[in-house]
Amino acid sequence: MADTFDVVVIGGGPGGYTAAIRAAQLGFSTACIDDGVRADGKPALGGTCTNVGCIPSKALLQSSEHFEHATHGFADHGIVVNDIAIDVAKMLARKDKVVAQNNDGIAYLFKKNKIASFNGKGAFTGRSSDGYAIAVSGAKPASLVARNVIIATGSTPRALPGAPFDNKLVLDNAGALAIPAVPKRLGVIGAGVVGLEMGSVWRRLGADVTILEALPALLSAADEAVAKEAQKQFARQGLAIHLSAKITKVTLGKNDVTVEWNDDKDAAQKSVFDRLVVSIGRVPNTAGLGADAVGLKLDARGFIDVDAHCATSLPQVYAIGDVVRGPMLAHKAEEEAVAVAERLAGQATHVDFNTVPWVIYTAPEIAWVGETEQQLKARGAAYKTGVFPFTANGRARAMGETRGFVKLIADAESDRVLGMHAIGPMVSELIAEGVMAMEFGAASEDIARICHAHPTLSEATREAALAVLGRTLNL
Ligand code: FAD
Ligand code: NAI
Repeated sequence: MADTFDVVVIGGGPGGYTAAIRAAQLGFSTACIDDGVRADGKPALGGTCTNVGCIPSKALLQSSEHFEHATHGFADHGIVVNDIAIDVAKMLARKDKVVAQNNDGIAYLFKKNKIASFNGKGAFTGRSSDGYAIAVSGAKPASLVARNVIIATGSTPRALPGAPFDNKLVLDNAGALAIPAVPKRLGVIGAGVVGLEMGSVWRRLGADVTILEALPALLSAADEAVAKEAQKQFARQGLAIHLSAKITKVTLGKNDVTVEWNDDKDAAQKSVFDRLVVSIGRVPNTAGLGADAVGLKLDARGFIDVDAHCATSLPQVYAIGDVVRGPMLAHKAEEEAVAVAERLAGQATHVDFNTVPWVIYTAPEIAWVGETEQQLKARGAAYKTGVFPFTANGRARAMGETRGFVKLIADAESDRVLGMHAIGPMVSELIAEGVMAMEFGAASEDIARICHAHPTLSEATREAALAVLGRTLNL
């Protein structure tokens, strides 16, 4: 006998678990099916983000930054430390503990919200008069009937043709987060978000990191000024980034990987690495979902086809997060999750992609929201900019973190904030002010007139707003 639920969520990542929580809060009987299993056999709720994405990468970025401070930064502060060493096994164990705490936190939230949690793979098997029939396969098979379905099955890493992942020599994101000892020579294919963050981790720990990027420009989605500053800072740190690189061949040795590639002058190059991280984007995950059994429509790139409200081609079936169009970000998945659950409850909802912030957790951090200068130029918009460098910010000087700047862009006529683009210390936190300004339709003058605590990094945002108006106080 199948259990019937108002809402069945397939996938327990940030999209799926957030959808399940919000649906349960709204009074729906809710189940969530996720196939993640931890090494200790417990469910690994949280998807890519919690297990092999956002959370473990930030744990290793933090650990490796502490190491970098200890080796290169402390001396400036008059702190003398001798005999600094890394215990990689301990660093990885700490990361695993942080992940486990997050898995358990989600399991707790499911219990608290009375969400039925199924550990296994969920697949559509057909339709009945009550809704959709969904089979759960795994250690405890089950049959469910869903009046509404929210698909949140996420994405998987894209492999480089001719170099399948083995997670020994050719690593995906999971492999890059679990290298047991610092490799001497680490190759990275793709200077996107994963490549830059994971490249930074292993460089700080002592690896020689070479990143091969196909495009002629670094971070082409970022504002050009930010991308240029990032390129300068990464070069100073010793990250060797080669743009316009065309990979021609990857050959696996016993303990190394040889990558043949053409450089920006089309000259043939050959590099030998101890490990190779391939981070060239991700593909939507619909394998084993039983899409065919119910006629669920996918688009030409394999994403589940959805409208602006995440409704699929099937009635009462929605899809959210990485498995649908839009940026592959945890907070984008979460926004869609809440919007869909509330829509099922009859509420009017809307997700504004223009106010979804981007953050890259390198050092310095990179963050932006809204349109870039190049996008505004392309659409012929009239705009003003204001830039404030962290070299002129008291808190940044006290911290010894003066790299980068905050740039605000406002409409030339109305002064409404159109974008915020920053590179520098803790800009991952500062960006929230730009998001809020844009959501509230604020003008740069509104930010300029808000009292910001002194000395804080947030004063750089206020000064950038003052710069839009041509009246900085501290520059
Ligand atoms: P996922 O998190 O992928 O979750 C989908 C879940 O569904 C998985 O557990 C999957 O196994 C399960 N599943 C799939 N099919 C089935 C099925 N048929 N039955 C049952 N379960 C199924 N984003 C940020 O915003 N900030 C970051 O700092 C950040 N860092 C990242 C770092 C790395 C290294 C990577 C790889 C990604 C990072 N991301 C980050 C992106 C972020 O992880 C994704 O955007 C986010 O996880 C997408 O959420 P989701 O719920 O759509 O899918
Ligand atoms: P990405 O899309 O960010 O970057 C991929 C890079 O690889 C691009 O620069 C692309 O030009 C390059 N590339 C593609 N094919 C190539 C080839 N054959 N040779 C050389 N270069 C090639 O993808 P990535 O880094 O794999 O990350 C996947 C997604 O995960 C991101 O789009 C992002 O949404 C998410 N993510 C978010 C993070 C964050 O928010 N801080 C951190 C890490 C990942």
